[in-house]
Amino acid sequence: QHFFSNSLPLEGKRALVTAGPTHEAIDPVRFIGNHSSGKMGYAIASALQSLGATVTLVSGPTQLPTPPKVNRHDVTSAQEMLEACSSHFETADIIVMSAAVADYTPVSVASQKIKKKDTNLEIALKKTTDILATLGKKKTTKQTLVGFALETENELQNAQDKLQRKNLDYIVLNSMQDKGAGFGGDTNKVTMIDRKGETQQFELKSKKDVANDIAAVIIAHQAAINS
Ligand code: CTP
Ligand code: CA
Repeated sequence: QHFFSNSLPLEGKRALVTAGPTHEAIDPVRFIGNHSSGKMGYAIASALQSLGATVTLVSGPTQLPTPPKVNRHDVTSAQEMLEACSSHFETADIIVMSAAVADYTPVSVASQKIKKKDTNLEIALKKTTDILATLGKKKTTKQTLVGFALETENELQNAQDKLQRKNLDYIVLNSMQDKGAGFGGDTNKVTMIDRKGETQQFELKSKKDVANDIAAVIIAHQAAINS
């Protein structure tokens, strides 16, 4: 292998990364969304590309520029994200689902703008398909599947349960406790958990550096798969 020491560690690998929120239409002018900026997912896409991977970034609505040499596939809703991910999944060696996918979407989209009335308004919602769990069911032993978890209580246990339930190789737990971590900002603090339940806690750092920490874990996993 050292004959190719000039090559990058993820040369020849394909990666699928999701980022940003999804927007679930209520009517032609309104949607249900969340505060995800997409910065973490874009940083991961950029890191994997820099390390040699061919990267497809399935992105919900964000204000961010496309990272250099990354193939960006824009989507709006959870259903569109599912379809985009399904079409790129089989050829991907590495899949990182950092998008903040809506858990619920309106049962129906009003064809005209909903007019206000004197009564309260109720919007019926149905569950979206869990994209990560869907991909987890199809995962092969050659693939590295990474999910994210956002918890406000019982964090480690809930994250580990998600990893098992969705058949992931790793789950990245976003710490909500620390200032400077999570939505919107340029820094994050994460813990990575593997299938054995072993945890690796990282310091508060820039999302770029967090992305490289996650990429390093992925590189080690891919190397173990191929050895
Ligand atoms: N996820 C997904 N499809 C959904 C919902 C979530 O692929 N419809 C993915 C997210 O991208 C993330 C992981 O599942 O990688 C965990 O998301 P999170 O919201 O923390 O967990 P949920 O399983 O949705 O459970 P809950 O929101 O109830 O904690
Ligand atoms: Ca959720």
